Amino acid sequence: MINLNKAKEEFEKYVKPYGIENVKICRKIEHSYRVIEVAEEIAKSLNLEKEDLELAKLIGLLHDIGRFEQIRIYDTFSDKDSIDHANLGVEILFKDGLIRKFIEDDKYDELIYKAIKNHNKYSIEDGLDKREKLHAKIIRDADKTDIYEVYIRDIESNENAIFNYDNIAREKIAEKVIESVKKHELVDRYDTVNEADRYVAALAFIFDFNFDKGLEIVKERQYISKLINRVKSESNEKEMNIIEKNILGYFKGRNI
Ligand SMILES: [Fe+2]
Repeated sequence: MINLNKAKEEFEKYVKPYGIENVKICRKIEHSYRVIEVAEEIAKSLNLEKEDLELAKLIGLLHDIGRFEQIRIYDTFSDKDSIDHANLGVEILFKDGLIRKFIEDDKYDELIYKAIKNHNKYSIEDGLDKREKLHAKIIRDADKTDIYEVYIRDIESNENAIFNYDNIAREKIAEKVIESVKKHELVDRYDTVNEADRYVAALAFIFDFNFDKGLEIVKERQYISKLINRVKSESNEKEMNIIEKNILGYFKGRNI
């Protein structure tokens, strides 16, 4: 039995010492809660049984638990500049048994571990069984869907911005990054040099959605065009148009 309300209470207790008044912390908490909702929508679209639905939601709640220690220790959310937050997350959950606060039963430990560990990787590692893979895919889609919501809110609030949009509008996008977009592939984070590259890499998450549901949400909310319009400038117009065309064309190709 999974008791999500109890898990949420424990989550709140866990995050409180990190300072919920801190904008960065608050953003991650809100992201975690919204990811629960997206994960649920995806799970429902797949007609999963109640147990898997609850499991998908629990993984949604916990997937970014490593973020809080990451920002405390390294003062950054950049994995590249600090530590892989998913690996840190599973260590926090499973090393000293913190996971038991969120779910009494230990029968899903391995599944939860693998789903969280794989949620931010370039691709899902080999060796997962069917159910583990399913949950790894759900959390990957749910997380990416909500990352766009985070960015849109960032544009709209213009406070404590995640990105420096003026910089992005000025910077030259790496050739390798554009090539990945043209091939409809995820951008390897090690191919990114500047902020514009990382921004485009986030847009290219679109190519890694496993299920239609997340993509439908992204399309419905017009995340991609809004995000591209925010940084389009005279100097990058040509590249941004190529990126937008490829992404919107990709939706069409998947009949979204
Ligand atoms: Fe994450």
